[in-house]
Formats: sequence, structure tokens, C-alpha cells
Amino acid sequence: MYILLSIFLILTVTELIFILNNKLILRFSMFDVQDKVSNQVFSHILDARLKFFYKQRSGDLINLLTNDVNRGFCCIKHLLDIIRWSIFICGYICISLLLLPVYTFGLLAIIAVIMLVFKKASPYLYSLGQDNLRAQEDASNIIVETMQGFRSIVLACAQDIHKSKFKEIIHRFYYTIYNNTWITSSVQPFMRFLSFLLLALVILFNKRTLLGGDPAYFSKMFFFIYVTGNIFRGLGIINSLYSSFAFNYEGVLVLLKTDEELKAMKINVPSIDRGIRSFSRMIEVKNLSFGYGSGESEVFTDLTFTVQASRKVAFAGSSGSGKSTLIDVISGFHDDYKGSILVDGEELKNIDKKDWRQLLGYVSQETFIFNDTIENNLLFGFQRKIGKEEIIQACKNAQIYDTIMSFAKKFDTELGERGVRLSGGEKQRLAIARLFLKDPLIVLLDEATSSLDSESVKRVKEALNSLSQGRTVIAASHRLSTIGDFDAIHILEKGRLVESGSHAQLLARKGYYFRYYTIQTMEDNR
Ligand SMILES: Nc1ncnc2c1ncn2[C@@H]1O[C@H](COP(=O)(O)OP(=O)(O)OP(=O)(O)O)[C@@H](O)[C@H]1O
Ligand SMILES: [Mg+2]
Repeated sequence: MYILLSIFLILTVTELIFILNNKLILRFSMFDVQDKVSNQVFSHILDARLKFFYKQRSGDLINLLTNDVNRGFCCIKHLLDIIRWSIFICGYICISLLLLPVYTFGLLAIIAVIMLVFKKASPYLYSLGQDNLRAQEDASNIIVETMQGFRSIVLACAQDIHKSKFKEIIHRFYYTIYNNTWITSSVQPFMRFLSFLLLALVILFNKRTLLGGDPAYFSKMFFFIYVTGNIFRGLGIINSLYSSFAFNYEGVLVLLKTDEELKAMKINVPSIDRGIRSFSRMIEVKNLSFGYGSGESEVFTDLTFTVQASRKVAFAGSSGSGKSTLIDVISGFHDDYKGSILVDGEELKNIDKKDWRQLLGYVSQETFIFNDTIENNLLFGFQRKIGKEEIIQACKNAQIYDTIMSFAKKFDTELGERGVRLSGGEKQRLAIARLFLKDPLIVLLDEATSSLDSESVKRVKEALNSLSQGRTVIAASHRLSTIGDFDAIHILEKGRLVESGSHAQLLARKGYYFRYYTIQTMEDNR
């Protein structure tokens, strides 16, 4: 009797603890786990090497930071509830062992069979979860792709193909949810049905003893029925929680795997602070080699060259020869290069990349514009306070001021997603205006004018010339007319430096540069 009462007391206290802790547990899993995990993964994304993004689909990352983190939260919650119900079931089994041991052993055998059946079903539940996750990622990716590639999709008349692709993905997504919901919600009624069936059989087989009128046996049986009902209810809940757990579990695995990958892809932070605040002598590149990944051949091999401070150095060569990759390596996006890059004698790998990038200004063919106002785009990332006069002067230097003034809302004009409000040349001049505000010591240019019409090229070139005054410039270009006045020009072919010199020296050599120059001059004169 006392044992029975103690078990009930333990179960009541357990329930009370769970009720009291529910808020605490939810708070812990929501804020301390969910919140922190999202922030941690997001910050790892921002610290990753550029390589990471080349093999990652945008939709997968969106999913990872929202849905997968939420799946993790569901798993924690379900696990805690499974523990809670397991304690109850153990308690009820102890009670029924005290009441009717023989029946309880029979009951345990039935429970074991039920659990075995569920174990058999678990691979299906896990694969359902995986299918659901893949479908969700595919759906996010196709949405992102449609937004980014809208123009190409419409011009290729591929709307119908895209629509049916989306239809198939969404069908897959909801089909997995439908199956999981069906299983999860059927488990509990099924268990209740089983418990009614079993208890009816027990009553049927004990009809005589029960009707015999032994009040002690009657109350034992009554109690046993009550306890068994609860055990089956608990089993039903555990199994439906488990189905839900298995459904969400894949998201947790993906989250953990991606976080591990991100940590491995992290740009190394030097252990000793080699903060670099200025650049006054030179960048020395010695035997530099770099490749995009294991199994892939090196993009460039054994490059050796020097860039003196305040000089203009260009890299030219055929498409795919590695010019943009070289600019990315110098910018500090890839620190897993072989050889060395010495900045005023200090190895780039040992320099804090934040400090290094404070010294850099970067203009590329594709200027990224944030979905914000012109002013906020100009001020993006600056810690210091910048006055209106300074902004206006920077815009005038970059030859974008008149364009901004022609807009009704001037500096408050919203530029839309990826700056759709501006033309390619205007975006570039806006980026150049940012660099006038940043006032970098080193300017990196990657094919900055190649996609523009001749009028825009002229304006962007003027802006770039004015920006380059008194600064070190490293440029990648295959338009030789834009780099003719550079102090040194290096020709990259298939990842190797094949020629170096000034415009006049290279022309006199009658090698690669001479050939490119002759072809381009003929094209320009046509
Ligand atoms: N993210 C990437 N992953 C794997 N390989 C890449 C990646 N980006 C570029 N490459 C490869 O590296 C090589 C050099 O590319 P890169 O863009 O540096 O050439 P480039 O000289 O700038 O060409 P272009 O003149 O056409 O701009 C190419 O063979 C390209 O296929
Ligand atoms: Mg390039």
C-alpha cells in the first residue's frame, strides 16, 4: 500500500516539476539554444571563405537558419516529452507489477511487440523527414532562383517549365507532411483501440472471478485497468512524439554538418594580433598557387611578382586564366593558398583580415547594391560619422551626383533589391563614391568596365582614374585599352605568368600582349 502511494507521489511530483519547468525548458530551448544556434551559424557564415558559398545553394542556407533551427527546437522538446512519458510508463508498470504481476508480464510482452513494430517503422519515418527537408530546400532554392533569374526565365520562355518544377517540389513537400501527420495522428487512437481491446479480453477471461464478488480482487482489477489505460495512452503519445522527432531529426543533422563545414571553412584569425594600419612599401607575391578544392586543378601556379606602393599594376590574359581568383586571394577571401603574399613584409595569412580590408577598396563588374536608400548604401559599413558635404563631394568625384539629383527623392531614393533602380554604370559609380568615402590605400579593380557601353565606360573610367590618384592599384582586365598607362602589366595564361612589363616593353616583345593588343585594336576600329 505504502509502496503504491509512494509511486503515485513520485509521479505526481514529476508531473509538477515538468509543469513548473515547462516554461523554463521552453525558454532554454528557444532562447538559449534556438536563438544562439541561429546567431552562431549566421556568424560562421559571415566568417567563412568565399569557397563555401560556391558550393552552397542560397535556399539551403535560408532553410538552415530558419526551418532547420526550428526542427532542432522541436527535437529537443519532443525528447524532453518522451523522457517525461517514459517516467510515467515506468511508474505505472511498477504499480501494475505490485497489483497483478502475471498480467503485467503479459502486458510487458505486448508492449515489447508494439515497440518492435515501431522500431521497424522508424527508418521510414526518418526517410520521410529527409524527403521533407530536401523538398523544403528545393522549394526555397527555386524561389530564390526565380527572383534572381526572372529576366532569364522570361526571356527563355521557360515559365511553364519553372511552374511545373515548382509544382512537383511543392507536391513532394506536402506529400511528406501529409504522410507524417497521418502517422503521427493515427498512433494515439490506434493505441487506445489496442488498450480497449486488451482490457475487454482481460475482463472477458476474468468474468467469473470478477463476478465472484471478491472486493479486493475487484478493486485490484479496476486499478489495473486504469493503470493499463494510462500506459497505452503514454505509449501512444511517446510513439507519436517519436514520429515527429524522426521527421525533424534530419534538419538537426544538416545543421550540425553545415556548422562543422563552416568552422572548417573559417578564415583563420591570426593568434597574435598583426593588425595592419597602413601600407607604405610593397606587396611581394612569391610562388603563389591556389586551387578551388581537393580534386580540382590549381587555378594558378607559382606566381611571383611585386606591387610597389602607389604604383598601378594590371593582370591581363584570356578568359579563365585566373585574374579574378588572384584578386580574391589578395583581398583575403581565400587564405588556403600556397606560397606567400607579404604585405610590407608581413605574411597576409597572419594579418587580421578586417584590418587588411580597411586598407582595400574593391570595384568589380558586378556591384552589389543593398535594398535600401542611396544614402544608406553609400554609408554602409562605416563606423565613423560622415557629413552630408563629404557624401556630396564623394558623389561628385565618382560622377554620380547629377544622376542622384535627378531622382525625386535624391539621396533618399530606394534602390530596390540588388539595386534594380540603377543601371550597371550607375551602380559602379555609386560603388566608386563609397570608395571615395572609404579613402583606401589600395584599390582592387576586377573587369570594372567590361560590361558597360562606351559612354558609361568613359564616365566610370574617369571616376576610377580620379580614385586611383596617389593609391596603389591592382587591376584585372582583358580590355587592354583600360590598362595601357599602368606601371606594370602581367599576362596570365592558364594560371601562369607568361609576360611582364610596361605597355611599351610588352608591345616591343611581340608576344602574348602584342597579339591581344593587335586583335583588340582591330576590333575597336571596326
Ligand atoms: N568558384 C569556383 N569554383 C571552382 N572553379 C572556379 C570557381 N571560380 C572560378 N573557377 C575556375 O577558375 C579558373 C579561373 O577563373 P577566374 O574567374 O579567376 O578567371 P578570369 O581570368 O577572371 O576570367 P575572366 O576573364 O573570364 O573574368 C576558371 O577555370 C574557372 O573555371
Ligand atoms: Mg574575371
